[in-house]
Amino acid sequence: MKRLTAVFLAIVMVLSLAACTGGNEPADNGGNTEPSQSHTEEAIAPNTTPAGSKILVAYFSATNNTEGVAQQLANGLGADLYEITPEKPYTDEDLAYGNSNSRSSVEMNDPAARPAISGSVENMEQYDVVFIGYPIWWGEAPQIISTFIESYDFSGKTIVAFCTSASSGFGNSDSALRSAAKGAKWLDGHRFAAGASADEVMAWANGLGIN
Ligand SMILES: Cc1cc2nc3c(=O)[nH]c(=O)nc-3n(C[C@H](O)[C@H](O)[C@H](O)COP(=O)(O)O)c2cc1C
Repeated sequence: MKRLTAVFLAIVMVLSLAACTGGNEPADNGGNTEPSQSHTEEAIAPNTTPAGSKILVAYFSATNNTEGVAQQLANGLGADLYEITPEKPYTDEDLAYGNSNSRSSVEMNDPAARPAISGSVENMEQYDVVFIGYPIWWGEAPQIISTFIESYDFSGKTIVAFCTSASSGFGNSDSALRSAAKGAKWLDGHRFAAGASADEVMAWANGLGIN
């Protein structure tokens, strides 16, 4: 009886081993001599989708606070950087927000004001994602940002606004801009304090899912 059991167990072991070896055989790939890589590709594919986006960081900065954030963003993302330069630079008097007759006050009280920009972005078509940075002026984006938005076709692009301010939040500062570039996909914007660190800027940027 013991002998019979041993023979039976031996047969079971031989059959099990044969089954395991069979599982390691290459799959029939229709005569193709290349090994099948379908499992490897399936594992890698989900991480590769957004890579390769071409990114532009465009900004206007009257006193260089927004410029600092824009530079960190462009460095961290490996993006191109473009300064929105007013044809007529803003002087200290122009920026005097306590004076209702200053240039900034007058422009911001006129919804039709479109301060002219010197120069332009080369080949805007090449960009998939455009960051637009500005200082908050009375809770809004300066009118020169509207000039910028209206100068290009942003259809099909992703736009992300960011700003710096003394204390105001991001608020609805991009709402007029969104209306002017309806064909774009707008992500939620973000406000930074002047002198925000590269770590803070990149923690936000890396959470957007665009790189
Ligand atoms: C005309 C003007 C209006 C401003 N309005 C606001 C405001 O409403 N809220 C705020 O927190 N800061 C306000 N600020 C401060 C700027 O948003 C802040 O200093 C910003 O970081 C400046 O950025 P920049 O150096 O890139 O121009 C104002 C500044 C100016 C010149």
